[in-house]
Amino acid sequence: MRFIITKDYEEMSRTAADIIAAQVRENPACTLGLATGSTPEGLYADLVADYEAGTLDFSQVQSFNLDEYRGLPGDHDQSYRYFMNKHLFDHVNIDKARTHVPDGSNPDADAACAAYEQAIVDAGGVDLQLLGLGHNGHIGFNEPADVFPKATNCVDLTESTITANSRLFDSIDDVPRQAYTMGIGTIMRARKVLVVANGEGKAQIVRDAFFGDVTPRVPASILQFHPDVTVIVDAEAGSLCPQA
Ligand code: F6R
Repeated sequence: MRFIITKDYEEMSRTAADIIAAQVRENPACTLGLATGSTPEGLYADLVADYEAGTLDFSQVQSFNLDEYRGLPGDHDQSYRYFMNKHLFDHVNIDKARTHVPDGSNPDADAACAAYEQAIVDAGGVDLQLLGLGHNGHIGFNEPADVFPKATNCVDLTESTITANSRLFDSIDDVPRQAYTMGIGTIMRARKVLVVANGEGKAQIVRDAFFGDVTPRVPASILQFHPDVTVIVDAEAGSLCPQA
């Protein structure tokens, strides 16, 4: 595991964007795994800036997002499809037909999840998977549990995740209670993993996830066993780590 502490959010974002840009330059037809949330907004803005500067070409890139709320269609302003269009896809030359997000509008959870897992396999797997980190250690929407979910699955969101995400909805009652998410197995099959986390509020979970025991009670801790993972945090999120 490479663990990088940057001085602030801007440097965290730029460092992460450089790793994604390098992946695309090395293999222009690569498959990226992408995340939503507040943390990657800055790095997506940096990738858009690279594209606008003419130094990055997404025309052959294919992408798979980690997760989507069950019950939200892609044009809902809190859906993850909408987020990706707004922060990245609408601003670069990626072919939207090659961008994939689980189909939250499909009420048949088993069918939606199986189709998504198969689409990733058919694409040859993910080359570089970007992840944010939940306050409870979730990655994707894989919440603390007794086991590590193997494949794309339908999850019940925990109260802590519903509360954390309610800031983006008109009321907490509007937050969907379920989501479709890549499983921990899906994530671990990515050839490379890149994790970003920032802010004081993530300091304890960053320490637990990357320097604590490996346990499904802290889903991100399994990444300690991944052969090619880079974790980039700002100084606040890294403040409780042994090397800080
Ligand atoms: C989003 C996702 C989540 C977030 C996590 C952190 O697609 O999979 O696991 O990465 O909840 O969210 P932020 O970045 O908003 O703190």
